[in-house]
Amino acid sequence: MVAGVARPTAVVQTELARIEAAKLSSVKTLDDDSLWQMSRNPAFVEAGRAAFTANCVSCHLASLRGKAENPTAIGASLIGTKWITAAGRPS
Ligand code: HEC
Repeated sequence: MVAGVARPTAVVQTELARIEAAKLSSVKTLDDDSLWQMSRNPAFVEAGRAAFTANCVSCHLASLRGKAENPTAIGASLIGTKWITAAGRPS
């Protein structure tokens, strides 16, 4: 850290994240870089958590492990490094 420069406070960090989220929201195309930046931004992470809770938890479970955690779950596990569906990575 540079001498004499204070660390940003939590309030400043939150505001910076909010500004970055607003900028990211206007990107025209989603690519690996913009998706990676979104994944590091608390505003997107919270929005994603809310969307997952509302739309996906019923089948994939809150742990994201689906059938791997509970055989009666409908959804597949979303945790892992390999796609289980045939198409692989979406194009
Ligand atoms: C009605 C139950 C249900 C809901 C709700 C649901 N899924 Fe799924 N999902 C499944 C099933 C079943 C599979 C496995 C399909 C297969 O084996 O071909 C799957 C597969 C997937 C896969 C592919 C995993 C892989 O490794 O190939 C992803 C990613 C996924 N779901 C994400 C989501 C997301 C994100 C949501 C919420 C927006 C969601 N799902 C909502 C049932 C569901």
